[in-house]
Amino acid sequence: MDSSYLHLVLPAAAAAVGVAVVLLLSLWRRCQTTSNHRPQANPILGNLVAFLANGHRFLDWSTGLLAAAPASTMQVHGPLGLGYCGVATASPDAVEHMLRASFHNYVDKGDRVRDAFADLLGDGLFLTNGRLYMEAAAEARVVLLLPALAPPLRRPRRLGPAAPPPPARRVRRGRDDSSPSSSRLEAGGDGRDDAFFAAFDDAVDISFGRILHPTTLVWKAMKLLDVGSERRLRQAIGVVDEYVTAIMESKQRCSDEEESNLLSRFTAAMMEEDGGNELGAMFDSPEAKRRFLRDTVKTFVLAGKDTTSSALTWLFWFLAANPECERRVYEEVTALRGDTAGDERDDGYEELKQMHYLHAAITETMRLYPPVPLASRVAAADDVLPDGTVVRAGWFADYSSYAMGRMPQLWGRDCGEFRPERWLDGGGKFVAVDAARYPVFHAGPRSCLGKEMAYVQMKAVAAAVVRRFSVEVVPAATANAPPPHETAVTLRMKGGLREV
Ligand code: HEM
Repeated sequence: MDSSYLHLVLPAAAAAVGVAVVLLLSLWRRCQTTSNHRPQANPILGNLVAFLANGHRFLDWSTGLLAAAPASTMQVHGPLGLGYCGVATASPDAVEHMLRASFHNYVDKGDRVRDAFADLLGDGLFLTNGRLYMEAAAEARVVLLLPALAPPLRRPRRLGPAAPPPPARRVRRGRDDSSPSSSRLEAGGDGRDDAFFAAFDDAVDISFGRILHPTTLVWKAMKLLDVGSERRLRQAIGVVDEYVTAIMESKQRCSDEEESNLLSRFTAAMMEEDGGNELGAMFDSPEAKRRFLRDTVKTFVLAGKDTTSSALTWLFWFLAANPECERRVYEEVTALRGDTAGDERDDGYEELKQMHYLHAAITETMRLYPPVPLASRVAAADDVLPDGTVVRAGWFADYSSYAMGRMPQLWGRDCGEFRPERWLDGGGKFVAVDAARYPVFHAGPRSCLGKEMAYVQMKAVAAAVVRRFSVEVVPAATANAPPPHETAVTLRMKGGLREV
């Protein structure tokens, strides 16, 4: 090489290296600005090594770290501060701060979540913010709370003596490879429904898998080339969109007088000839409106399907492991309809509302196995949490409902035990706690929109099953040996429960 050329290149290269080192050091220092609690980190790799080593048991590992942290809050750092930096907490004060007091600083779900789910959920409710979210959420609240519950509300209530104990029904823990769709408790349906649910599950799992990639470059390249899981995702989304669009069209055709359910009401309100309601008026074309509606319907399916089935799976496991609790649920549900032995009707809303013990058992189940175990936001501006932990703009801010349900300082020394009684007052009535201490349905302005509906559904299913069957898990469920779970969008029991 020409030596005059080297003369020019070497100083330039040295200067570039120098600038890079200064930049890296300043980024590293930016992540190290406070004396806040941090799990021990490698000076170069941050917490990456520990994260990789414990990824397979992430929830339990992070619960241990948060339990050891002085204010149940810690900072986490990526390599040289270049990867993900952020805070994780299991403190009700920090949750209160992030989800209520400083809500506007923690609205954003962040590029990582948005990019991963944008193909599946588009601009639907889950990924929107601002006025569009407010209008859509207001509409959703009305349809989620009222019409879906209207028919059972009219049912008469009957009381009477308990019916004889039900026959045992055996369910097996673990996946049956010959029938993969039976691995979780889910609503069944015709062949088209099955194809939709299979495609939906696939699309959710692949979208979630994108978040776990160390870099977005890999899946983005796969998407560009239309190969592997990205190709499967595209195909699955095609099946999902076609199915949802067909349902929307059929709901639009039948008037809301004829069929009063969530989708028909939401569709009718938005798509009326005169432009629809305020939400409908925010779109400049019927096509844009249809797309938003379709994406919002997919959001409802994502939000409502695996959450309730996850909670019910763990509930049945807990009841099998705690026969005394199962007996109390059985006595409660049969006492409310005791004169109807052999009656195949399901419970009405009034009857469900009076099932305080069952409500407590479901709530206690989700304390230990919250269907959404972690939630993540990204801070818009620098901030300080109530315990003094510094959060920088752009950092993630996560809270772990899973860890919070297992903190002795929040639930007492018996926090690891399944004890529905902790939710009941002296008269046996269910007493809720503040959502910042039990953020299983999130808290603040963006709390779960389907909480009431979810309880109604879960109680209706659990009461119907417990009244008819005693669930026995094979191998036998024992309270001190819980089954393993797997990391997905929701907290799934590994392999689920299936009937044998
Ligand atoms: C046991 C059942 C359920 C649990 C534990 C649960 C929990 C949650 C949680 C933690 C969030 C906040 C997630 C986040 O923003 O990171 C959420 C949001 C949401 N949930 Fe639920 N959910 C359940 C059932 C349902 C059902 C049945 C529906 C309706 C069909 C529903 C509709 C929604 C919607 C639309 C959102 C998004 C709200 C927003 O983005 O602001 N959920 N849910």
